[in-house]
Amino acid sequence: MKKVNLAVVGATGMVGRTFLKVLEEKNLPIDNFYVMASARSAGSKLTFKGKEYVVEELTEHSFDKPIDIALFSAGGSTSAKFAPIAAKHNCIVIDNSAQWRQAPEVPLVVPEVNPEDVKWNKGIIANPNCSTIQAVVALKPLDDKYTIKRVVYSTYQAVSGAGVAGWKDLENGLKGEEPKKFPHPIANNCLPHIDVFLDNGYTKEEMKMIWETRKILHHPELKVTATTVRVPVFNSHSESINVEFEKPVDINEVKKLLSDSPDIILKDDPANDVYPLAIEATGTDEVYVGRIRRDESVENGVNFWCVADNIRKGAATNAVQIAQILINNMN
Ligand code: A2P
Repeated sequence: MKKVNLAVVGATGMVGRTFLKVLEEKNLPIDNFYVMASARSAGSKLTFKGKEYVVEELTEHSFDKPIDIALFSAGGSTSAKFAPIAAKHNCIVIDNSAQWRQAPEVPLVVPEVNPEDVKWNKGIIANPNCSTIQAVVALKPLDDKYTIKRVVYSTYQAVSGAGVAGWKDLENGLKGEEPKKFPHPIANNCLPHIDVFLDNGYTKEEMKMIWETRKILHHPELKVTATTVRVPVFNSHSESINVEFEKPVDINEVKKLLSDSPDIILKDDPANDVYPLAIEATGTDEVYVGRIRRDESVENGVNFWCVADNIRKGAATNAVQIAQILINNMN
């Protein structure tokens, strides 16, 4: 198997550190390995596969050396500036920011859903939003069988999705300190506000779920709506998903379709208090589904609860899976 030179940009961040962990676990064939971040953390050290690597400052010259794949998680403005520079140097960027997700020339990929889209990349592949990834993994087998007509998302999102600063706001807020990242205390609170508000009254996070679901499922006109909420949970996003289909659904068949999907774990035994939980999803790569029941207010509707580790499957693991596809295609 061909070994690749791989860089992690934003390596000191919440997702960046998890990139290192997942790359190590999945044992990707890496030759030269580079960790990059801002000038703030340049010179600090990160351990990968038992070896220490010095964090380099990301500059316009970072990709002068041969790098095959770069995993970016350093915010939208960093990706806007540096992903094209990397791509120009024949490095394929897998970008975790929202910067490139809607660009028509950029594939937006969830390996369980649309792995074939990796092929038409022109140097940048976008990693979707965390709350979208887990939702589309669960929706794909149902869409294939029944054809989705409309989706209503309501999310309960962990603070780790807002990076180290979000995590600290909950940690310190529980000790009575004022928030620094969020506009209100997150401890003992729920904030119906993730990312910025847009002119249509939705938040950008909500619109990301709408736009990205359509692009990944190849349903450009799909009816989707969302309410995204930050909750005082450190890690793993939970979602209520209400979905209406074109074709008649059978609930037992829905459960079987989901449990037969390799990356989905069905946890659905309400009589024994069994349903997906954030604390159980944390540290794993699967998408958990449960509370599966008919939506009795429409003809072909289903409600379910969907949980996944937003930093792993919702970000780092998904990106590493894309890198794996790229490497397989190189061999
Ligand atoms: P740094 O540690 O030097 O600030 P999180 O969202 O979890 O806080 O992580 C953000 C990541 O993005 C960090 O690794 C951070 O590096 C990195 N980052 C932020 N701004 C830049 C930038 N201008 N150039 C390179 N990396 C950046």
